[in-house]
Amino acid sequence: MKENKTKFYKLGECKTEFLFESDAEKVALKEAAKPKKTKIYKKIIINTIIICFFMTTMAITLNYYETGEINKINASLGKINGSKAPSEKLNDASNNLKTITNNYEDKHTIIINKANPISEDLVKNYTLVTVEDNMYNGIKLEKETYENYLRLKENLLERGYYINIRSGFRTFNDSQVIYNNYALEKGSAYADKYAATPGTSEHNTGLAFDFIISSNKSATKTNYESDEYFYLENIAYLYGFIIRYPKDKEVITGYNYEPWHLRYVGEELAKYLTKNNLTLEEFYEL
Ligand code: DAL
Ligand code: ZN
Repeated sequence: MKENKTKFYKLGECKTEFLFESDAEKVALKEAAKPKKTKIYKKIIINTIIICFFMTTMAITLNYYETGEINKINASLGKINGSKAPSEKLNDASNNLKTITNNYEDKHTIIINKANPISEDLVKNYTLVTVEDNMYNGIKLEKETYENYLRLKENLLERGYYINIRSGFRTFNDSQVIYNNYALEKGSAYADKYAATPGTSEHNTGLAFDFIISSNKSATKTNYESDEYFYLENIAYLYGFIIRYPKDKEVITGYNYEPWHLRYVGEELAKYLTKNNLTLEEFYEL
């Protein structure tokens, strides 16, 4: 018998054809060749099953750990959401602030920002009074704001700290002049971060003011690292005030950090915002 030719087909499959001396030999040899072929198929099938089993086990294990990790991340996100962090709302406030309908029945808790301006008509609902005994004359504040400012001032004086207001109520025209000056000096992008246009400034209501605090009675600047400032920052809410434009919340409020700008919102809301480290935008979920 001699081997005539060998054909290779698919991987692992070998077909051999022979030329034989006799038919019996041919049949016998053909039969002998068969089990070989079956063995190869068997091996392939077994290996495939083993590989499939291994891969399935790997996939299940990986998925288990991955799900565990995702659950952990979700859990921590849940915590953040629970404390009202506006994770998905941290867009550029200048462009994406939402508008809400203010409830002017409580005129002290309203929100005024770039997307929520106040009209000159509504501004007339705020009763203004003149600030007495202040380093700068002729400054006006909304009546309830001023009454609470006096309580705050008294507390500070008891510790030997002096507070003065350098800017209170502003007319729409005042706001326009301030904005234009900023824009002229430093460009409109800079002005947008520090100065509000008419109707979008809390100063237009008299609910907000810019102050100086120091242990030096005639100081014209505040040291924001001082004990005086730290103290004020921590007790302001007791009198209904909040630091309206805090550090690290610039994208939410739309303004740079303004440690000198206090806003009156009433005792209850001020306490809630301060204790929860929230801005008005976050509170109103804008
Ligand atoms: N500086 C604040 C944003 C204002 O102009 O009202
Ligand atoms: Zn201000």
